[in-house]
Amino acid sequence: MMGERKAPLPSEDHVFPATWYAVCFSSQLGRQKPLAARVAGRDLVLFRDSSGNVRALSRYCTHRGADLALGRVNEGRLACAYHGWQFDGDGRCACIPAHPDRPIPDFAHNRAYPACDHGGLVWVYLGPEAMPQVPQLFPELTTGAYRLVPYQDVWQAHLTRVVESVLDVAHLAFVHRKTIGRRTPAAIPRVSFDVDHGDRIRIQNGGGVLEYWFPQMWILRPAERQGGFINFVTFTPVDAETTLILGYAGRSFARSIPGMDAVFRRYSLRVLREDQQVVESQQPRPIPEALRMEAHVPADAPQVRFRQRWYRFLTGDEPRVTVNPSV
Ligand code: FES
Ligand SMILES: [Fe+2]
Repeated sequence: MMGERKAPLPSEDHVFPATWYAVCFSSQLGRQKPLAARVAGRDLVLFRDSSGNVRALSRYCTHRGADLALGRVNEGRLACAYHGWQFDGDGRCACIPAHPDRPIPDFAHNRAYPACDHGGLVWVYLGPEAMPQVPQLFPELTTGAYRLVPYQDVWQAHLTRVVESVLDVAHLAFVHRKTIGRRTPAAIPRVSFDVDHGDRIRIQNGGGVLEYWFPQMWILRPAERQGGFINFVTFTPVDAETTLILGYAGRSFARSIPGMDAVFRRYSLRVLREDQQVVESQQPRPIPEALRMEAHVPADAPQVRFRQRWYRFLTGDEPRVTVNPSV
């Protein structure tokens, strides 16, 4: 019968492309206090070694499973809060205080993951093999031409649904009718966009250009590239149900006017949160596993290209991370 929809089928919701994912802003990770993070269902602890480089280990101590995020960093080593075992940035257990003179057994060592600071963000890589190069970023994040105001949010939504919300031009007149979509007409006669190998999607959107880099980065630029205001977000699959969004509201004007940062942060968060309820409501949780399982119209063309790229990932042999591989 027309209008009747089948119950959503289970979709592939627990694999994600293996790449660098951002876990926090660099400024949030100091020299003394470790920080907990979670990516693709893996609990991690972040800290800085004696050179200030960010390191990522499994979050729970190899001794009795205490949370290493409760520990302290001393001379670049992370000391567990429970019995003081010390771990270096490679996860090697370097000291067991109860037995300072005994050799350290192999099973005391912890697992380490590649991590780095780049563009003012801390990134981790959970892929099957080490990925040595730092993640490539949009130039606006590293040139210093913009004052970048950080903002962040966590949504109860699958990564794919969150990504699609930033490729969507038809929602502006509805979801954002009081902010960025105020002057956007509901009718979208044609979406102007181009796609580069499926990995980079650029969309002309009124006065701006949206650019998305598969799978986790997005930027909004003014159309003429004359500087001004940019907005950047990166998406991190915390697990199959949850996505961390870390963003920058960037401006090349009024860089040092007091109070402007707060204004920009508040506005960016307001716009972001206008999407939240709708995106968190979507069923099935990830995008469905075939194009025909949802209705598409011409205004959805950029999302369709994203889906094709996502399906290529799901069905191909690109490196992937699996949520909860043990269950
Ligand atoms: S639980 Fe970490 S040192 Fe004992
Ligand atoms: Fe939106």
